[in-house]
Amino acid sequence: MFETLDQVAEDIAKSLSEAASNRRSPMHTPVVGTADADVRIMVLRAFDRKCWTCRLHTDARSPKCEAIGKGAPVGLLFHDPDAKIQIRTKGIGRIETQGPVADAAWEAASNYARRCYLAQGAPGTLSEEATSGLPAVVEGIKPDDEQLVPARENFAVLLVELHTLDWLWLAHNGHRRARFTGGPGEWAGRWVVP
Ligand SMILES: Cc1cc2nc3c(=O)[nH]c(=O)nc-3n(C[C@H](O)[C@H](O)[C@H](O)COP(=O)(O)O)c2cc1C
Repeated sequence: MFETLDQVAEDIAKSLSEAASNRRSPMHTPVVGTADADVRIMVLRAFDRKCWTCRLHTDARSPKCEAIGKGAPVGLLFHDPDAKIQIRTKGIGRIETQGPVADAAWEAASNYARRCYLAQGAPGTLSEEATSGLPAVVEGIKPDDEQLVPARENFAVLLVELHTLDWLWLAHNGHRRARFTGGPGEWAGRWVVP
């Protein structure tokens, strides 16, 4: 099934494309690791196969944005239990709050999705009571465009350009593992003992 490194590279690219476009894909919600040893689940919003860049959305005030800033190592871990495939990736991440990519992502988001960015206080802020952090007036409703104006400044995209891919396939007849290094346009693949 996976006999060549080219087949593996194609599987990785197809899996990440599918993960971004299909919310039912098990790889739609990768684990995202930062250099401060913290990990969290995020939704993969887009994968640009040409430049091997993943786009995710987040609150600009969240601790991960502080950790990543304009450029820092980021790991993305994907798992498809039915296919028995794990894809570990590493790259350089950057946070953008302004510019064409962030603007387009904001424009494409639904008002429900945008509502998250109305939270009063940064993600992780301590509270005396259980809270969504949202102003009471938008709790449980779809805010209109005017109500969402203050949310825009809290919205950020996380862009991760992948430089290392580590693919593992668990198979009865013997597991298979391959690693690709070098980054977009210069991938060099090697088989690896699983
Ligand atoms: C299924 C699922 C999807 C999530 N998607 C996102 C997301 O797309 N962006 C995001 O910032 N947080 C997302 N979260 C919340 C994060 O896991 C995390 O709790 C939050 O971003 C705060 O992370 P930080 O303290 O490391 O900044 C998601 C959580 C779950 C369980």
